[in-house]
Amino acid sequence: MRFNSALLAAAAAAGTALAQRPTNTSICDYYTMALLKENNATNQYTLLTLLVNTAIIGNYTQPNVGVSVPGILNPNGMYNNTKVNLVPYFDGGLASTNEGGSMGVAKNFLDGGGAAPLMKNMPADDMTSNQYKLLTHLYEFFGSLLGCSEVGMTGFAAYSGDASMYEVHKFMVLDPFQMGYFIEQVALSAASFGVATSDIEAVGQALGSLFNYRCSPKTTVIKAQGPQYQSICTDQSCPLADNAVCDAQPAMDQPLVANATLADGEGRNATGSATMSGGATGTATGTATMSGSASGTTSGKSSATATFNAASHAAPGLTGMFATLVAFLAL
Ligand code: HEM
Repeated sequence: MRFNSALLAAAAAAGTALAQRPTNTSICDYYTMALLKENNATNQYTLLTLLVNTAIIGNYTQPNVGVSVPGILNPNGMYNNTKVNLVPYFDGGLASTNEGGSMGVAKNFLDGGGAAPLMKNMPADDMTSNQYKLLTHLYEFFGSLLGCSEVGMTGFAAYSGDASMYEVHKFMVLDPFQMGYFIEQVALSAASFGVATSDIEAVGQALGSLFNYRCSPKTTVIKAQGPQYQSICTDQSCPLADNAVCDAQPAMDQPLVANATLADGEGRNATGSATMSGGATGTATGTATMSGSASGTTSGKSSATATFNAASHAAPGLTGMFATLVAFLAL
């Protein structure tokens, strides 16, 4: 999709005037005004659509301010020199969706036309699709996180999804690399529209502290939904939160492969889990928190042949993420 030149000029201008966001103006309101000229509910929703769609499929607006966004759905993602492929969580490749039972189920979230409608600034072709629900929920959720003043008004519905991010994501058993990659795509997407590094850092830090720790105590993210368990990073390799409440947020088994055999980097990036089960082949070499020569392709986040490298699997902090981002911005 191409933007008109006025919007691009505004984007470029925003890229240079970013440090001046007044502290009493939210990130959402400020950039809606800077990029779309008028700060109303419709424009705030458009901003969130641009931000989320770009984070998910990578750059699709031409031209942009020169920041490349690989995208959450890029099967060849890299984070801290480690391959990350989140696609199987979205295309039904893994039984990782919480439908309320004791195990995850496979669900296709790309059933509303996949990338094509996103490139037209839409959530999906079909309003009854899983894709539509997920995308609109992401616009609403991130709209609240970024302080959009018009959330809840006509043109920008309030978040109506599940209140607990732990419950939503618990069967995915996400690790710090997957989290880091996801958050980095959001940050790069923002950078691609000219959002100031200081604002991106603030958002990255908020996302990291809210969702990147295991067993976090209840926290309010969406005001109307009150305090909820919000840990999204639930793999054993995720850093443990202060005042951890693990009983209420038990770690789940790795999600099962639903309809495909995953290769290295699909689902989780590395092999090796003491809890892996299944009768198929494959070796895992792990140390520290993960060990054993477990085998099996039934556990979807592991590949059959990759070698787990404990040293490179240390929890990546936000520092790594912003170093990458700053490198991008410096280009
Ligand atoms: C900062 C990190 C993240 C945030 C804030 C976040 C937020 C959300 C939100 C708000 C929803 C919608 C929930 C609903 O509709 O009830 C969602 C769903 C989903 N997220 Fe995340 N997410 C994050 C990281 C990830 C990662 C790393 C993955 C990796 C695959 C992921 C995969 C999914 C999937 C597949 C769904 C659909 C689940 C369902 O509807 O059952 N998310 N996420």
